[in-house]
Amino acid sequence: MCGIVGYIGTKNAVPVLVDGLAKLEYRGYDSAGIAVHTGGGVEVHKYKGRLQNLADNIAPLELKAHIGIGHTRWATHGEPSDVNAHPHMSNSGDIAVIHNGIIENYVQIKEFLCDKTDVCFKSDTDTEVIAHLIEYFYEGDLLDAVYKAVYRMEGAYAIGVVCKNDPETLVAVRKDSPLIVGLGEQENFIASDIPAILNHTREVLLIENDEVVVLTKDEVTIYDSLRQKVERDVFMVTWDAAAAEKEGYEHFTMKEIHEQPQSLHDTLHRRITADGNFHFEQIDIDRNILKNINKIYIVACGTAYHAGLIGKRAIESIAGIPVTVDVASEFRYADPFIDEHTLFIAVSQSGETLDTLQSLRYAKGLGARILSIVNVVGSSVARDSDDVFYTWAGPEIGVASTKAFTTQVMAFYMLAMHLGMHNDRLTDEGFDEWLEKLKRMEAYTEEVLKTKEQMQHIAAEHFNKENIFFMGRGIDVDISFEASLKLKELSYINSFAIAAGELKHGTIALMEQGTVVIALATQDHLYEKMVSNIREVKARGAYVVAIAQEGNTAIEGVADDVVYIPKCDNLLAPLLSVIPMQYFAYFVALLRGNDVDKPRNLAKSVTVE
Ligand code: F6R
Repeated sequence: MCGIVGYIGTKNAVPVLVDGLAKLEYRGYDSAGIAVHTGGGVEVHKYKGRLQNLADNIAPLELKAHIGIGHTRWATHGEPSDVNAHPHMSNSGDIAVIHNGIIENYVQIKEFLCDKTDVCFKSDTDTEVIAHLIEYFYEGDLLDAVYKAVYRMEGAYAIGVVCKNDPETLVAVRKDSPLIVGLGEQENFIASDIPAILNHTREVLLIENDEVVVLTKDEVTIYDSLRQKVERDVFMVTWDAAAAEKEGYEHFTMKEIHEQPQSLHDTLHRRITADGNFHFEQIDIDRNILKNINKIYIVACGTAYHAGLIGKRAIESIAGIPVTVDVASEFRYADPFIDEHTLFIAVSQSGETLDTLQSLRYAKGLGARILSIVNVVGSSVARDSDDVFYTWAGPEIGVASTKAFTTQVMAFYMLAMHLGMHNDRLTDEGFDEWLEKLKRMEAYTEEVLKTKEQMQHIAAEHFNKENIFFMGRGIDVDISFEASLKLKELSYINSFAIAAGELKHGTIALMEQGTVVIALATQDHLYEKMVSNIREVKARGAYVVAIAQEGNTAIEGVADDVVYIPKCDNLLAPLLSVIPMQYFAYFVALLRGNDVDKPRNLAKSVTVE
């Protein structure tokens, strides 16, 4: 979703802003713009389309400025266009604003402004009201005007403001949309996310909800909603800029697929103590707390939801606690059975997904204990949780989630073991056995990466198909859902996934000569049944690509292609079987000429409901 960046310092702000926006491109956008104070006043330049379009248009102008704000927009209110792109200016042109989020009461604010002033609205956006509202309150003190405006705004927002009359000050505000500050030598930054500033500094301040920040080139001051100064510890970013670069890969998505053995290693090994137990720094759930918990809800969106489906199977089988999984956009409206005996687990790569965040707050309001599995450190979901499991996958830039997914799944296995130990479902020996199995997964994922060429070949055979189906049984159904989502979002091919046993209840009607079916058959106890399901679709003319564990070679006589994953515990197979599926989606998308890292209409961080 929208990305914001701001700079004040001694360098020329223009390349800093454009470079920062480039690092936020992964969030998804349809237009880009900057506002810079060039000495004479605030100049805004904004264009529909790629950031390069903005860069090409401003290059001949040779703009020079030491303060400015930049924005990549993902349209919500109003179509993607030059005029709807940010920054938006106040009527006089003195104040420019960038905004990520939604102003829910913008219609009322618009009416208020039309009533009180002769303001002229140029765009269809909710954001434009912010610029006019700040101007309405401006009497020479920008901070004061921002406070008065924010007080009247409802919704979610991270905002950056610059003003003609105050070329030494950048003001930013945060409420439910991500905002960080980067600290430099005689320069300071704001941004939606760390990669935007990582070429300049690793010292970061995480801004909290309802805080307002004033940046000059030498100083950063954070105020709370009552305008009291707030002290904040500096957060040192441990990963370097290279982690957010492609490092020789053609796409971030491919790089991130390849990083999975390492990210799984980091998620697991950094938490194993010398005596072979787990140490979770930010999780306080112990025997006593667990006594009070009788059910678990896992709530998430998209790929994170699929990780939750696997989490349910892991927790129920290892810890014996009943789990309900729901998509966050449905959860709050379904009258869920949440009380103080509920453990609510939110799963989110970005930690900013609004549906997930609102569900978490809803469950918290009903007394649930909140545990989150999150990748982005200091994100909203993490901050609103009682317990946090950081997945430590490193920055995930490709819009399609790959390494975040497998680390979320790993997190669930580890949590299941932790819960199992504390409610006596798992013996010490049982724990050790699981731990050994988990340790082996790093090497096994390395092994599965070798399916790349085979998957490229299979993708080349089928990339021009109109429909591709996925099916499986047991935990393979969950991976079928994930594989189908990955294919849809990257390739734009129509696809859905089904529990293979459900075929005969309707879907088999779709099978005809040449239909492509990807059959996940990794579960030993369901293997024979899957073979029967494969026969059923083959009999109707389908072309079947099967995914099976090594050794189960009988499937070669039934399926057209077989992709093998190393033999492992059935419950852990998703960590392996998903990787050929990620490759498949990637190569099909590439062959269709799609933008793999930034699929159409999608955003990395979905901060609207
Ligand atoms: C799919 C994908 C999305 C996200 C979903 C939740 O590849 O990336 O489905 O999984 O939007 O995002 P997070 O995990 O940031 O809450």
